[in-house]
Amino acid sequence: MTTTLAGRDLLTLSDFSPAEIRLVLDTAHSQKAAWAAGERDVPLTGMAIALIFEKPSVRTRVSFEVACARLGATPVVLSGSDSAFSRGETVADTARVLERYCEAIVLRTFEQAKLDEVARTARVPVVNSLSDDHHPCQGLADLLTIEEHLGRLEGVKLAYVGDGNNMAHTYLHGGALTGMDVRIATPPGFEPSTSVVEEATAIAATTGARIAVGHDAAAAVEGADIVATDTWASMGQEDEHAERLRAFAPFRVDETLMSCGAGGALFIHCLPAHRGEEVTDEVIESECSVVFDQAENRMHAQKALLSLLLS
Ligand code: CP
Ligand code: NVA
Repeated sequence: MTTTLAGRDLLTLSDFSPAEIRLVLDTAHSQKAAWAAGERDVPLTGMAIALIFEKPSVRTRVSFEVACARLGATPVVLSGSDSAFSRGETVADTARVLERYCEAIVLRTFEQAKLDEVARTARVPVVNSLSDDHHPCQGLADLLTIEEHLGRLEGVKLAYVGDGNNMAHTYLHGGALTGMDVRIATPPGFEPSTSVVEEATAIAATTGARIAVGHDAAAAVEGADIVATDTWASMGQEDEHAERLRAFAPFRVDETLMSCGAGGALFIHCLPAHRGEEVTDEVIESECSVVFDQAENRMHAQKALLSLLLS
């Protein structure tokens, strides 16, 4: 059976099957190589893609705009006071308007429920470009980066230490779907959502992946091939920053924690990084850090995703 993603939404990585994730990654690898070889395919010529930001962004906004341009599509950015959902109109009405102009809607917002509602209403593909709960586009870029560096995903040991947030959820889903050994360590009270852990565990039972969630950073990193972290206070949690600094201090990724990993373990971070908080300068600047490869791969992964959803 041929795998196709035409017309689909991506609200969480678990919307896709292992074969569908594989299709996105293979497409991204081959489009990236083709671009480097000078090929300039523009399969989305004449299309328009709405990029809506209800939270700040650098990487996601620029990488989606460049991905659209490279595919021949026109990106239409709505952010700040121009954001699509800022004027009292119902979410459903806005979605029904946008689909009349745009072939896809990419939305960064707070509640996952808003993405669900846009996806239910709009007849065009809807992509989550970060919500409080999930960051699937970052997840695709990170899987692409890990595969580029290690040559595989199956059996890779990925340790995530820090907040049980949207990135922790994304690694749980992404690792489960690709057969990885995912270990999450958070301070007590900051665990990932139980429903995401249960969902990842159910997916893992079908792919051979392993899922473990605990509170011991060194135990999670023991023998890991990949060490991941993220900000301790996500967008919308700025008021909790000082209190979180205290709770998260034992979860900082420093050279001592990295030394618990496998020889040559890689460090990943979706960025923006808060140097001296979740990661030290020494680690993020070391040879094991591939954070800028991840940032570049946002564009390649999203280019592959858009071309598949709109094929
Ligand atoms: N990693 C990421 O999503 O970065 P931005 O918030 O800058 O888009
Ligand atoms: N967890 C972070 C990720 C930023 C890309 C946040 O939601 O702010």
